[in-house]
This record gives sequence, C-alpha cells and structure tokens, in this order.
Amino acid sequence: MLSAVERKIEQFVAELNDKEVTALYAKLPHGKRLRAKLILKIAGASLSVIKTAAVVEMIHAASLLHDDVIDDAYTRRSKPSLNALYGNKTAIMLGDILYSKGFFELNNISADVAKTVSNAVTQLSLGELKDVSLSNAFNLDREVYLEMIYQKTASLIEASAGAAALLAGKPKEVYMTYGRNLGLGFQMIDDILDITSDAETLGKPALHDFVEGKTTLPYIYLYEVLNAQEKEKLEALHGKVLSKEEQTWILGQMKAHKIVEKSYMEAKVLIDEAIALMDAHGEPSLSGIAREMIERDF
Ligand code: FPP
Ligand code: MG
Repeated sequence: MLSAVERKIEQFVAELNDKEVTALYAKLPHGKRLRAKLILKIAGASLSVIKTAAVVEMIHAASLLHDDVIDDAYTRRSKPSLNALYGNKTAIMLGDILYSKGFFELNNISADVAKTVSNAVTQLSLGELKDVSLSNAFNLDREVYLEMIYQKTASLIEASAGAAALLAGKPKEVYMTYGRNLGLGFQMIDDILDITSDAETLGKPALHDFVEGKTTLPYIYLYEVLNAQEKEKLEALHGKVLSKEEQTWILGQMKAHKIVEKSYMEAKVLIDEAIALMDAHGEPSLSGIAREMIERDF
C-alpha cells in the first residue's frame, strides 16, 4: 500500500500545477518511508490514512531538504543532495512548497490529526535549532542530547504513530510511546553508524558528525572515560577536519573503551521496549519494524 502513498504525494505535487516543482520532486530519492509504513500498519489503508501518510512524508522530505542546506550536506542517500544539484535557494523553496502543501492537505483530515502532526513540526524545528546551537560547543550532557534527538527525530515518528492511532480508534498514548522509542533508537543508531560505517555505505564521509561539531552519544560516553590529556585532545579535534591519524585515534579510543557497544545497548533497550509494547498489543508487524531497525549492519 506504500505505492498508494507515493501516488497520493505525486497527486498533491501535480495539483500545484508547476512543471519545475514536478521535475524537482521527481529528482528526490524516496528513502525508506518509515513514517508512512508505520501509519499504514497501525491504521490500514483508507483514504484519510493514505493522505496522512502522504502529508507526513512530504513534511519529512521538506525537513531533509532544509537539513541538507543547514548541514552543508552534498549527499543524501548516497546521491547528490538537491542543494548540491540546484543550490540552496532551490532546495529551501522546494522544502517550503512541500511543507505548505502538506499543511494545507492536513486541514482536510481531522482536527486531532492536524494538531498532532503540526505540533511535531514545531518540535522538529526546535530540535534542529538545538542541534545547530549544540554544534558550536562540545556538548557533554547526555540529557541535552536526548532532548535534542527527541525533538529533531522522534517527535515526527511519535506523531505519525499517534495520528494513525487516532484514525484507527486505537489507544493513542501506547502508539506514541512506541513511536517515541523507535525514533530515539533510530537516531541513536544513525549517530553510531556515522562512526562505524565507511564513507561509501554512509553516503557521506565517516565521522562527519564530529567534524560538523556534533557530539553524539558515543562522543559523550567516550569523553567520560578518557584521561585528562586525552579529553583535551578530543576537545581540540571537535569541529575540525580530521587527518587520517586523528580519525584512527578517535576510532581506536572508541574501540578500546567499547563505546559503540555501550551506545548500541542504549538504543537496543529503547527498541526492545517498543517491541515488547507492540507484542503486548497484538501488533507483530509493528514489533517487526522495530526489530529490523536494531538488526541493521554495524
Ligand atoms: C536530520 O538530522 C534532520 C531532521 C530529522 C530534522 C530536520 C528539521 C528541520 C530542518 C526543521 C523542520 C523544517 C520543515 C520544513 C518541516 P541529521 O542531520 O542528524 O541526519 P542526516 O544524517 O539524515 O542528515
Ligand atoms: Mg543532516
């Protein structure tokens, strides 16, 4: 039924009656459509469910268009990003167009669904702002990191699950908790993959987050266990282009202190909770989505 969501997005884009926008949208890689999948699995495939899934994916696509401009990212899903191909101005405007059309369509669903989704967009934006501000310094506060990834990533996944529950007449809080845990776990794993994957698999250079000034969970944990001299060295490398030796040093320290394992376990606890919750509510395909996430390659 994911294809029905793709068609709905294409229809919404076609309704804008603008050849340039249609052509630009066709250039965007689709990604995993995780949020749409969750919505369909929770709520079936009625027209309002398909519309909600389409709107959420349009908002998500818009947020990534803006994020790649903010992050100066020239690749997205191993392909040149839209800002790399057509410049920042075009990427920002396509984001605004997808976002505003999605928002317009949201008004045709239900007030409860609209409230749930639109509130998440504010959280998303607050989270992105926090991510940018935090990159200016070496953040060592795990709670601050968790709050930021909740807002930046988990909020829209939580809202997707909550909106779908509303449409299906299922208990909203249960599904929101599932979505929140899934979203937090997802972002933690994404941050770990930035350290463990090679540039080719990742579609961006390895340790890119740290170079960008982002001290994700593994860096927070690494700092905690380093001695004073090593702490100073790690801090000095923060936010800088790394030489091969510096990269190797960071990766070696991560390995020596089993930092990836520790961070991964934290993501796994959250995902396991999500799995248990869905198992308890007779939703095996939703626990399946969570299970797949934790079984990604490291
Ligand atoms: C990716 O994070 C970014 C997000 C999940 C959220 C981005 C949100 C905004 C730009 C604000 C909302 C804007 C609109 C138009 C709705 P990342 O950089 O850690 O992940 P990446 O590796 O996939 O880039
Ligand atoms: Mg980014």
